[in-house]
Amino acid sequence: MCGIVGYVGSRKAQEVLIKGLSRLEYRGYDSAGVAILEGHKINLVKRQGKLRILTDVLKSEPAKGSIGVGHTRWATHGVPNDVNAHPHLDCASKIAVVHNGIIENYLDLKKTLMKEGHRFSSETDTEVIAHLIEKYYKDDLETAVLKTIRSLKGSYAIAAIHASEPDKVVGARCDSPLIVGVGEGENFLASDVPAVLDYTKNIIYLDNHELITITKKGVTIKDYSGRIIQKNPSKIKWDIKQAEKAGHSHFMLKEIYEQGAVLDGILDERLHDGKVVFEELAIKDNDLKRFTKIAIVACGTAYHAGLTGKYMLEEYARIPCWVDTSSEFRYRDPIVDKNTLVIIISQSGETADSLAALREAKRKGAKTLGICNVVGSSIARESDGVIYTHAGPEIAVASTKAYTAQLAVLYLVTLYLGRLRKVIGSAKFDHIIKEFRRAPALMNSLIDEYRSDYNNIAAYAGEFKKYYFEKHNKSHFLYLGRNINYPNALEGALKLKEISYISAEGYAAGEMKHGPIALIDENPWVVCIAVQSKTYDKMLSNIQEIKARGGIVIAITTEGDEEIMHHNVNYVIELPKIDELFSPLLVVIPLQLLAYYVAKKFGYDIDQPRNLAKSVTVE
Ligand code: M6R
Repeated sequence: MCGIVGYVGSRKAQEVLIKGLSRLEYRGYDSAGVAILEGHKINLVKRQGKLRILTDVLKSEPAKGSIGVGHTRWATHGVPNDVNAHPHLDCASKIAVVHNGIIENYLDLKKTLMKEGHRFSSETDTEVIAHLIEKYYKDDLETAVLKTIRSLKGSYAIAAIHASEPDKVVGARCDSPLIVGVGEGENFLASDVPAVLDYTKNIIYLDNHELITITKKGVTIKDYSGRIIQKNPSKIKWDIKQAEKAGHSHFMLKEIYEQGAVLDGILDERLHDGKVVFEELAIKDNDLKRFTKIAIVACGTAYHAGLTGKYMLEEYARIPCWVDTSSEFRYRDPIVDKNTLVIIISQSGETADSLAALREAKRKGAKTLGICNVVGSSIARESDGVIYTHAGPEIAVASTKAYTAQLAVLYLVTLYLGRLRKVIGSAKFDHIIKEFRRAPALMNSLIDEYRSDYNNIAAYAGEFKKYYFEKHNKSHFLYLGRNINYPNALEGALKLKEISYISAEGYAAGEMKHGPIALIDENPWVVCIAVQSKTYDKMLSNIQEIKARGGIVIAITTEGDEEIMHHNVNYVIELPKIDELFSPLLVVIPLQLLAYYVAKKFGYDIDQPRNLAKSVTVE
């Protein structure tokens, strides 16, 4: 977590840093700060709270200078306050450092530095970096940073400036992302591409254990033994407009609305001449044929996509598949070997647990396939093969379009493997693809319906709020689904709790009688995914059981379903008809919108919910 930015050029550093931080605020928003070189002095301004607080301070007392570093924080070591906010300084206030990651040996380093006379002002792990640079500094910042990082254990992306060298920013990376924006007469460092896209589309992705120095004139990359590494910038194809709200009240809403177009783009890119095409997939067909099992590993929403993938892969490619959360997989000695394909799903491609799980799978000899959204991310680069979801930047902390893009890629992987393993014949393949091709238009028609100012989901959210307060905050949500829509029940609950802070639980409907039914009295609102499927009748029985105990039911059904009306449900959300296999793509849209509107009715900060950050780059 945390976002860092560094700038050297002729513009006002304050403006570049603040703009960059505003594009990185999704990574953390507990505090923000900048350190800008004004002549041979560092001007440090940092504040607890969101970036706008810092921006207001800087408006009234602007910092001059064209070199600086900035930071937006998701707190790990030390509470979010002004003192613990980055940048951090050395004793003489000549060095300023920003850091994303965790320094695991910081306590030992701090003790030694204190014995040597260094004075610390914060509770952070980061401050040791500033003091170590001070300790090693003779007359060259780059050498001092190199010596410093050799003593660090843990993960870091750092950027540092020194008052005696007002022409450069020095950085380094190990397990936390860092990119270089290459400009003309100016250069940038940042945790992610959007931070620099207003100024340049030429990006260099740094690898682990690379040291970087940027000046106005150029960029020098070295390995930790000091050898120069030549790297050419890649050109970013997307536009900064994609990372803006484009008139929507929230990024989350914009990203929900984009899902039909994203799916359309994925199908156009991947389906050619009656075949699924993965150009960037570096795993050969012969290898794909010989795998005897698949493990899918991911966190959060990506994990739910993986769970849905299991249903597809087992039914349509007839390959045994299991799904693990990355944090469990990495520590439990999983049984994977050269005959296992391990699929790691991650929007950011930087999630620490997923990256560690990938490395563990490789260490055990498995082949790894990353399904990532962020191009050039660590998981994408370290996997044996990668398939990009190409969903465009996802800014809201609550993942929406990345989820449906992950589902889309999993469908395509299933069809690819199904054909390869001769489970799906060509007629069946064509039939499935025809149905798949209908999905984007159906998603768009649903979204068009929901775009109206007062759609039924917004109204249900309003009813819920009223009910919640009438019940003295006692109400909560239960989400039930079956078969391929069971993971959507988990996803609906996750969406609601992460942005509205209302307790919500997702369950396989068949499991209801084994425990959750005890929760049902007149308090819970139960979202029942009851679209047409082979388990539809079972779901109707579950609805009866809930109604018999006084629960309030929102039923997600298929249009034309008259049966549901006989079951006394309280609210109905109708979806267009589609084959059960692809129904998760439609079902999730009202679930996302329900979470969105509940959070909106309660007045919460939807794009930046408390305690969360978009990419979890620490354990
Ligand atoms: O970047 P990743 O896909 O690896 O992130 C995984 C989770 O952190 C993420 O899906 C998280 O659960 C979202 N906030 C859910 O909306």
